Amino acid sequence: MQVALKIWRYDGETGERALREYEFDAPEEATLLDCLDIVKDRIDGSLSYRKSCRMMICGSCGMRMDGAAVLACKVRMYDVAQRGHVPVISAMGNLPVVKDLVVDMQPFWDKFKAVKPYLQPGYIEPPDEREHLITQERMNVVHKEALCINCGCCVSECNSMESDPEFLGPQALAKGMRFVGDPRDGAKVERLEAYSSEHGIWDCTRCYFCNERCPKGVDPRDAIAKLGAEAMHEGIDRDMGAKHAKWFVTSAKTTGWLRETELVPKTQGIVSSITQMKFAMSLARRGKVPPPFPPHVAEDVVEARRLHDIVKGQDRRGALGHVQGERALGRIEHTEEGGTKRDVPETTPGEPPVQRDLGDRAETSKGGAA
Ligand code: SF4
Ligand code: SF4
Ligand code: FES
Repeated sequence: MQVALKIWRYDGETGERALREYEFDAPEEATLLDCLDIVKDRIDGSLSYRKSCRMMICGSCGMRMDGAAVLACKVRMYDVAQRGHVPVISAMGNLPVVKDLVVDMQPFWDKFKAVKPYLQPGYIEPPDEREHLITQERMNVVHKEALCINCGCCVSECNSMESDPEFLGPQALAKGMRFVGDPRDGAKVERLEAYSSEHGIWDCTRCYFCNERCPKGVDPRDAIAKLGAEAMHEGIDRDMGAKHAKWFVTSAKTTGWLRETELVPKTQGIVSSITQMKFAMSLARRGKVPPPFPPHVAEDVVEARRLHDIVKGQDRRGALGHVQGERALGRIEHTEEGGTKRDVPETTPGEPPVQRDLGDRAETSKGGAA
């Protein structure tokens, strides 16, 4: 088949960037990584990119295709070529580009190390040197997090990291959950304290791009939600994000609605809210703030209260509650006709990656942190 690629080339020494187009013949089963190999072998040996396993295991070949992070060895090119589409290939975002499609992974590994990605001592050893048995229910809590191959695709697309490069980020936090949720770990509370600090779990904007782009179904945003639930379960709720989440629950239980008018005072306190009165008044004038009085209560509020009581009665707090909800949704989606199935790979072999409006990001992956 005939394939064409546009590749953002970058020379780290001169700082020069150029979008070059390559056309070549490739076998029908070729992946994006195979195509890059063809370009390097037959057309331009100076093209740089990372690879190793070629089978979605090592995590080396993360890059952007049409502005969205992919594993190059996972993307089949047949349908793309058939459509005559010429994808733009560029380096991953949120990490400094070294050359062409190669990024400096040091900031990524620094955050990985910062969450202490190993079991900490302190757990009770099983008697007679037997193995430490863990129930399936507990394993379910960290099952997805354990699938991470450290490819960086989630980090590439993280909104929060674009505005705050110090944010721990989806990969590091998913790794943190891997150990917070492990009953053998002896430092759960210390971890939750550390991850709840500045640049931690509550700085996530919940954009879900990390879930969308993760090629292994780790769902890092869900891992961050589990960390939040575990932190609150342990009483670590000083952050505004935690207060915000608590108010969601109270509001839903008492009124059946999310009462946004009270969100700011309940989250930030009265004094801080007063400083935002001018902004609130301008929103109110444009009809964007519902009147605070009388409190609006949903007609079927009793159902919201019943649901709250059922969940409370089951006492599945923290990450266990999150996993229960996730599995319940999975069952609904599996049984309801037309429902969206979980774990659909973000890049179905032979199809282009899911598109979203990225403005000019697809064309402007920079030589510095993007
Ligand atoms: S959901 Fe949070 S961690 Fe994931 S990409 Fe968005 S901001 Fe980053
Ligand atoms: S969470 Fe997914 S996207 Fe992020 S590093 Fe791990 S495998 Fe890659
Ligand atoms: S080359 Fe190993 S994941 Fe793609």
